[in-house]
Amino acid sequence: MKSILITGGAGFIGSNLVRMLAEGSAYNVIVLDALTYAGNLENIQDLVDGSRVRFEHGSINDRGLIDRLLAETSFDAILHLAAESHVDRSIASAAPFIETNVVGTLTLLEAAKHAAVRRFVHVSTDEVYGMLGPTDPAFTEETPLAPNSPYSASKAASDLLVRAFVHTHGMDAVITRCSNNYGPYQFPEKLIPLMTLNAIENRSLPIYGDGLQVRDWLHVEDHCRGIMLAYERGMTGQVYNFGGFGEEKNIVVATSILQHVGKDESLLTYVADRPGHDRRYAINPRKVQQELGWTPEWNFKDGLRTTIDWYRANSAWCQNVRSGEYRSYYQRQYEQRG
Ligand code: NAD
Ligand code: DAU
Repeated sequence: MKSILITGGAGFIGSNLVRMLAEGSAYNVIVLDALTYAGNLENIQDLVDGSRVRFEHGSINDRGLIDRLLAETSFDAILHLAAESHVDRSIASAAPFIETNVVGTLTLLEAAKHAAVRRFVHVSTDEVYGMLGPTDPAFTEETPLAPNSPYSASKAASDLLVRAFVHTHGMDAVITRCSNNYGPYQFPEKLIPLMTLNAIENRSLPIYGDGLQVRDWLHVEDHCRGIMLAYERGMTGQVYNFGGFGEEKNIVVATSILQHVGKDESLLTYVADRPGHDRRYAINPRKVQQELGWTPEWNFKDGLRTTIDWYRANSAWCQNVRSGEYRSYYQRQYEQRG
């Protein structure tokens, strides 16, 4: 059985990917995650307990740890998702984004090259392309890089390092870039879980600026299928864009959430805009449809409703995340065992 190392596997997309792989039995999955504020071991604890997945607590910046992991197991691939991922935090403080997204990715690339890991899948973002005007055609893989936030600049830098390792060192790597993901286990600092939990709790829903910014919503399950197709069928050195055909204005998303939760629009609160706020993102996924046979299975309307219902049905998870209780989960589960 092939072994794969998933970095960031306790985060939102990583845990959904781990869950998808654990449902099949094609891969031996090992997760490396530093459990920052965005990592939550509860997201995958049942899989770790059931020995479907092995969890390693540690950082992609720790070269010694990565060398040990890569020496212990012959990995067919590293699926690299670990990152600082929230734009607002990168505006408040950019340094952790450089440390994790740029230096951490470089550390992982060097270790993977040293250990001759067969394939490196680098999970990136459509934000590296900058922003679109209302009538611009959607991003393609040929759109020039023009990142606007410290977050997207750090992701673009990591993409270019991956490209350089392919060109210079002959590394077998592919880069995926996707639009905004939504679904279960997303940390409630991002738009959809934040608005959903606030609506449930009768708190105000903060709308940045005029609320007319557009994002192209992609269900996390569709994205995870795309990551696996890029790993299994992608061509070395290629970039693959994944989008959900799910363009929607933020204010429409927030209003839809209120309607589904049965709350009044008086909870909508317009607040100061995000500095440098990108107006619109949209992906043209023609290349992955043609070359990888991928297409999104979720439409945004159904996906949003199902996602809201997941947060309503998982109140214990939401409560642990909202209260900060999840931060001590690792200590309770592991450190007490010795
Ligand atoms: P997330 O913030 O939910 O999770 C990130 C995970 O990485 C966490 O578990 C965290 O503990 C871990 N991590 C952070 N620093 C680490 C380090 N130094 N070493 C090991 N682990 C570390 O992020 P996400 O939304 O799941 O995003 C995953 C990837 O997908 C990121 O690379 C992100 O840039 C990219 N992406 C996300 C979206 C989206 O909409 N969420 C869209 C496009 C691309
Ligand atoms: O496009 C892909 C990117 O999508 C990923 O690379 C990032 O990791 C991910 O965080 C996401 O970035 P965004 O900045 O688009 O996502 P966020 O959920 O933070 O915001 C979505 C939109 O909603 C954006 O226009 C800002 C707005 N917003 C967000 C929050 C948190 C609000 O109006 N109010 C809010 O409180």
